[in-house]
Amino acid sequence: MKALVLSGGKGTRLRPLTFTCAKQLIPVANKPILGYVLDQVAETGIKKAGIITAPETGQYVKDYVGDGSKWKLDVTYIPQEPLGLAHAVKTAQSFLAQDSFVMCLGDNVTGQALSTFVEKFQKEQLDALIILKEVDDPSNFGIAQLDKNGNIVRLVEKPKTPMGNLAIIGTYIFSSKIHKAIARIKPSWRGELEITDAVQELVNRGFKVKAEILDSWWLDTGKKDDILSANAKILDEYIEEDVKGSISNSTIEGRVKVDREARILNSTIRGPCIIGKNTVVEDSFIGPYTSVGDNSQILNSNLEYCVILENVIVKNVERLEESLVGKNAKVTKKQNSATKLHIGDYSEVEV
Ligand code: DAU
Repeated sequence: MKALVLSGGKGTRLRPLTFTCAKQLIPVANKPILGYVLDQVAETGIKKAGIITAPETGQYVKDYVGDGSKWKLDVTYIPQEPLGLAHAVKTAQSFLAQDSFVMCLGDNVTGQALSTFVEKFQKEQLDALIILKEVDDPSNFGIAQLDKNGNIVRLVEKPKTPMGNLAIIGTYIFSSKIHKAIARIKPSWRGELEITDAVQELVNRGFKVKAEILDSWWLDTGKKDDILSANAKILDEYIEEDVKGSISNSTIEGRVKVDREARILNSTIRGPCIIGKNTVVEDSFIGPYTSVGDNSQILNSNLEYCVILENVIVKNVERLEESLVGKNAKVTKKQNSATKLHIGDYSEVEV
């Protein structure tokens, strides 16, 4: 069995961060989302992974994943114009050959190991296993309808009038039959070759297509608020107290990770949160569910429920909440001064 990890696409909903970074590389708890996806792939014992990349951001993905040895994966990069999830599979066909494969979206994280799904797929000799989760907003996802035995009978991509609330979570396992199904479908109204249409094709032709409902949490990190929620979830689940940097005249409460060479001075840090390598926090309060990347400076400021990337300066800001701050950004407040902005295209500022 192989893995196909989709790390292409346009990332328009996360601009301006995606002008200089692939959306799958935005960090939560100071680690790119794609890193969690590759951890899960590696845990299954799969050794060969194809990674789909987009023309604009492919190099960033390669710089992060390298040859895959960090995950003990043999990685093949597969460049693709973002023309749909089924198009990505089509582009990867020569890499996948006749093998079954797990397909994961590089910007979706879940709290459940993939191995149980792989075992079910193999034991029941399925042609497709699709993982689902109930959602409150079915119009934003691919939605599946099941019969009473858990077989999929119908799938619709982002239905205007949903026929249920079981969303496709972006983890799929396919036999090589999917390639013929993809060859038979046409682009949808949005111009994409949809994987939901290809799976429907398998269903229509009587192949064994089943679903499993995810037991744990799942987060699709396509938008700013999703990144903040994923960050909170990962900090909650995985962060243990681990202070490597120096602490002086400060209070550290709860599960806080302070990376090496970070300095905390005259401040309070309340976990769960993480402070990156070589970052300085001075005269500040860092509240729960905050991640601060490497080489940043948080000075005379209060932060809570934020994701701050690398090389950021936050200075004299009384209260910064629910914010996502990109690399090399500066957020400062001057006393008695008008708001002055120098921000990138597609930025969002609430003052
Ligand atoms: O998040 C789950 C949803 O993911 C499913 O419910 C939908 O059925 C599925 O179509 C997908 O919808 P999204 O609108 O979230 O897909 P998005 O365009 O964000 O692409 C998902 C990932 O795949 C993302 O990491 C980018 C990558 N991608 C996307 C396209 C369209 C590619 O690598 N190539 C592509 O051509």
